[in-house]
Amino acid sequence: MVASVCKHEDRIRLIAELNRRIPFPSRKHHMPLHNVDIFEDLPSRLDKTVNPYVNLLVGGQHDSLPLCYGQSLKGKAGRWRETLCEKMGFPPEKLILEIGVHKGKVIINLALDYPQWGFLGMDITFKRVVLSAEKLTRAHTKNAMILLGNARHISKVFTPGELDGAIIFFPDPWVKKKSQMRNRLLNESFCRDLSSSLKQGAFFWLKTDSEDYFRLAETMVTGLGFKPSARLFPQPYESTFEARFRSFMLPTFEEFWTKC
Ligand SMILES: C[S@@+](CC[C@H](N)C(=O)[O-])C[C@H]1O[C@@H](n2cnc3c(N)ncnc32)[C@H](O)[C@@H]1O
Repeated sequence: MVASVCKHEDRIRLIAELNRRIPFPSRKHHMPLHNVDIFEDLPSRLDKTVNPYVNLLVGGQHDSLPLCYGQSLKGKAGRWRETLCEKMGFPPEKLILEIGVHKGKVIINLALDYPQWGFLGMDITFKRVVLSAEKLTRAHTKNAMILLGNARHISKVFTPGELDGAIIFFPDPWVKKKSQMRNRLLNESFCRDLSSSLKQGAFFWLKTDSEDYFRLAETMVTGLGFKPSARLFPQPYESTFEARFRSFMLPTFEEFWTKC
């Protein structure tokens, strides 16, 4: 585990300052899909004027963006290697999922560094999946795709043991209310589903700014048979949120577990 020390009051003050200086992107373009069936073609049904990314998403699916959502996710479980093989020209040696790709900073670097592996990035907002897919296209990567959906549904999208690794960097940061804590992505049922989609020997790499969230995740995954192990990657693959926390010298916590 990696961590640095910072007093609670300093942390609250620094987070407020961080929020002020680096505001979240405008909420009106977000529209998260929290309660939507992962196979529902929501973007095709939405008013295209409400969110500019809906248009791009619908166009992207039928044009060249490496995107997958709604009905096109159906039947993909157990066939992601074949799907990527069609794009790559050979079957990927490993299949890695990143949940919460944001604007694609981590997945793009991984896809470029490991061209023989296949990467799937999942996110819940239209804007972020479009921006990530555009980034992959601009870099001419063939070994990565972006999926739109709520990661809580991973058991519908992947078969047991299909994945060689999962990456989740800074899920649900800056929890201020009890209700937000209850809605955190990493809970018992999600960790069970994530574990089931990972094969034996696969990895789970978590980074977070919250020590109590980290401890909770640690308890859940070790209970499922994961053990801390040496990181497979020489590079740290610093994410956008990690860089933000670091710039304010806020503590971050991470572990690289292997499923035993
Ligand atoms: C705090 S950001 C972290 C982004 C990036 N991983 C980083 O470290 O910079 C959390 C990301 O997870 C996505 N996200 C949140 N809940 C999700 C869910 N249930 N399923 C898929 N993505 C989710 C958000 O849209 C956002 O892009």
